[in-house]
Amino acid sequence: MKFFVDTADVPAIAELNDLGMVDGVTTNPSLIKKSGRDILEVTKEICDLVDGPVSAEVTATDAETMIAEGRKLAKIADNIAVKVPLTWDGLKACKVLTDEGNIVNVTLCFSANQALLAAKAGASFISPFIGRLDDINLEGLDLIADIRTIYDNYGYETEILAASIRTVNHISDCAKIGADVITAPPAVIKSMIAHPLTDKGLDAFLADIKSANISIL
Ligand code: G3P
Repeated sequence: MKFFVDTADVPAIAELNDLGMVDGVTTNPSLIKKSGRDILEVTKEICDLVDGPVSAEVTATDAETMIAEGRKLAKIADNIAVKVPLTWDGLKACKVLTDEGNIVNVTLCFSANQALLAAKAGASFISPFIGRLDDINLEGLDLIADIRTIYDNYGYETEILAASIRTVNHISDCAKIGADVITAPPAVIKSMIAHPLTDKGLDAFLADIKSANISIL
């Protein structure tokens, strides 16, 4: 399963990238606002830092302007994925931009029917938002499973990019379901390593190394 980092915080991306944990990056207008930086500048910096797809989201809502923005974003780097919202205008922009050879990530997906439309529009990635469905007492992971079934039933090549990841369980559950990608905040990815029994076991090993004076170098 591919790990994308869901942030526009360049140092945080670099830290995980150095660990080989970054297969791509996703941003959106809220993450760009949080970065306090110019969208074109920070996106270019991220594209130069990582090899995988970097999602940059359009700001328009009409297809014509989305297409123009998408073409401009795509010129930033070869690994740009243009992000468009799941609206009819977004799907029209998706069709045009993918037909021109661009990577397109269709975002703000909250239903299997929406995901089906995105696949038919040629989306490279579909971004179903797990956490925001959980927030309204629906089962976000059920959507991932439904999309996985539908895409596999018909051989759609659109990759499921599970988004709005809030917990480490979201990540492991997405892996069990077979999502192609998860995109998560750096903190959630980093917290995957934590387990009290690992800490306890290591402490015990270190105590025995010390008491038995075990030395290698
Ligand atoms: O990539 C989408 C993600 O940034 C949304 O996450 O936690 O705002 O639902 P969240």
